[in-house]
Amino acid sequence: MPTISASKLGTEHYKELIQKNMPKLQMLPTVAMEALELVKVPECPVVEFASIVERDVTLASSMLRIANSPVYSPKREISTLREAVMRLGFRECKNLIMSSCVSTLTKKLSFEEEWIRDLLWRHSLYTAAIAHHLNQRFHCGFHGEEFTAGLLHDLGRFLFASLFPKEFLSVDPLNFDERENPEPIETEKHGISHTQFAEIFAEINNLPDELTAVMKWHHQPQNAGQYKKLVSLIAVADDMANHFQREGDAENYDGLNNPFVEGLRECKASQELSRFDEFAESLISEASDDMHSMNAI
Ligand SMILES: [Fe+2]
Ligand SMILES: [Fe+2]
Repeated sequence: MPTISASKLGTEHYKELIQKNMPKLQMLPTVAMEALELVKVPECPVVEFASIVERDVTLASSMLRIANSPVYSPKREISTLREAVMRLGFRECKNLIMSSCVSTLTKKLSFEEEWIRDLLWRHSLYTAAIAHHLNQRFHCGFHGEEFTAGLLHDLGRFLFASLFPKEFLSVDPLNFDERENPEPIETEKHGISHTQFAEIFAEINNLPDELTAVMKWHHQPQNAGQYKKLVSLIAVADDMANHFQREGDAENYDGLNNPFVEGLRECKASQELSRFDEFAESLISEASDDMHSMNAI
């Protein structure tokens, strides 16, 4: 664990820090990388894909848990990876692999205070679950990537909390009050924001561009270029998750002032956006109902 002060570090130092802490911070284990490579091949064989993933017990069991979570709402329990691939398709399986890796990585990171990890992980799950419901409600056309993106969006906060435990809470008090963008304060105190830290991590780990964009731009989705729709979806969900974690329930959620809703104009059912405030509370509640079963991810 580093003893240096975060505030004295520039971007290059953060890069070195992540590299020094590899393989602890390795996002994709070898098996996951092999499986993702295989999925690129047209007509990728199900049996071969499943047998690669099965070599990593943690990855395989984590994928099955997520495949059986309400996100994929299976009609009956999926018990083998082959079945998961057949039922969900390779596109969703790619997202399952990514989600499993986020889950494993956040468990692997060491934290001085376990409650910080729990709170951040719950925030990731809430954001992912709400993004999933928003995607369905507005027909945004995502197939699992919204869930992975929700899980991953604040990875920079996990990195700060794990690598700089002494300073973390003084910069990020975990009060989930983020209607003011938290990035400037972080940059002032750490020399870098959680979004920039995550971007460095994503580069080193070769993460897909759309996930990198979510980690980098979720507080400024208007700057996310071709990934604006996905990043806006996560930004909207993030605001709703913050309300839930701040207040303890969905009541009195001020959907009219969610600053990112306009970014969902590209979704098919965008005419529904004018009624966003009417159903936002029930959407948060539905997502929080999903949470219990997803907590096991
Ligand atoms: Fe954030
Ligand atoms: Fe967040």
